[in-house]
Amino acid sequence: MKTSILRGRRLRRTPALRAMARETHLQASQLVAPLFVGEGLTRREPIASMPGHARLSPELAAREAADLAALGVGSVLLFGIPGTKDDLGSAAWNPDGPVPQAIRRIKHDVPDLVVWADVCLCEYTSHGHCGVLCDGEVDNDSTLPLLVRASLAYAEAGADVIAPSDMMDGRVAAIRAALDEAGFHDRVIVSYAAKYASAFYGPFRDAAGSTPQQGDRRGYQMDPANVCEAVREALADVREGADVVMVKPGLPYLDVIRAVRERVDVPVAAYQVSGEYAMLHAAAERGWVDLTRAMHESSIALRRAGAELLVTYFARELAQSLQAAALPAFVVEGRS
Ligand code: PBG
Repeated sequence: MKTSILRGRRLRRTPALRAMARETHLQASQLVAPLFVGEGLTRREPIASMPGHARLSPELAAREAADLAALGVGSVLLFGIPGTKDDLGSAAWNPDGPVPQAIRRIKHDVPDLVVWADVCLCEYTSHGHCGVLCDGEVDNDSTLPLLVRASLAYAEAGADVIAPSDMMDGRVAAIRAALDEAGFHDRVIVSYAAKYASAFYGPFRDAAGSTPQQGDRRGYQMDPANVCEAVREALADVREGADVVMVKPGLPYLDVIRAVRERVDVPVAAYQVSGEYAMLHAAAERGWVDLTRAMHESSIALRRAGAELLVTYFARELAQSLQAAALPAFVVEGRS
């Protein structure tokens, strides 16, 4: 055998050698755990299509947040499910709504945990669209002041991060200006810069009751066929003041994460969405994939594509296995 052949297997022979040669790592501090907080709930309401997840009261959300923090999870991302909905989604900026209540409790109980508040109107509008309807269309510019009001309500409650997911043009600039004017210079904006009109949001819409009653979101969320547009959106959001940009969904859009990573100079987040989570669970339930290994592999794939931060419904399980592993480097092999 010639000595000039590539002996790639040399670096794969033992766990220690594989750990030594490993290019990508995942830390619990990079994980963001989504939580659903509902109004008027007294106990956990499990979400059938998202095993292990439930709609929570603000108290239960704070308890969950404390558990996640103890496991080393860096952040939680809060979604609200209001008691009443209207045309404008006005419950989104109610200072006593479930999200502001949960923010206050979490910041009180676990001040070091980073609290992200999702900003969008779709959970709060009676029609289920992410903005105000004018002549049957989602009107961009009249939606902006409402997103600003919601952002201010969450900042006032103590949110560290404001995360607009509505896909209205100019919302990052509007939110940044309003936060600064109100003295919230220190609050981070994570923009869902490249959010695609995706089939993979199904379970989330069940959980949050936010399916549009008419039409779909293709007039504001992105066309799955595009990647240059994602770069354009991300660059625009950074210019408008985004501190972090997000790509969503995750696994079907690895090329988009890579393209955005190469063009911006801020951290990039990837959102492994509800449908991705549900698919892996459904396949595992049938014995068709190993859930733990698929979870590790999909997470490291998002990191490898270039995302520093991962929003994932697997945050708890990932943090548990990171904690259990003798060396974090072994996590990809599921040695926990
Ligand atoms: C909008 C929002 C959605 C998700 C996060 N923010 C739903 C949508 O755009 O329809 C989806 C997240 C997921 O599927 O996990 N507020």
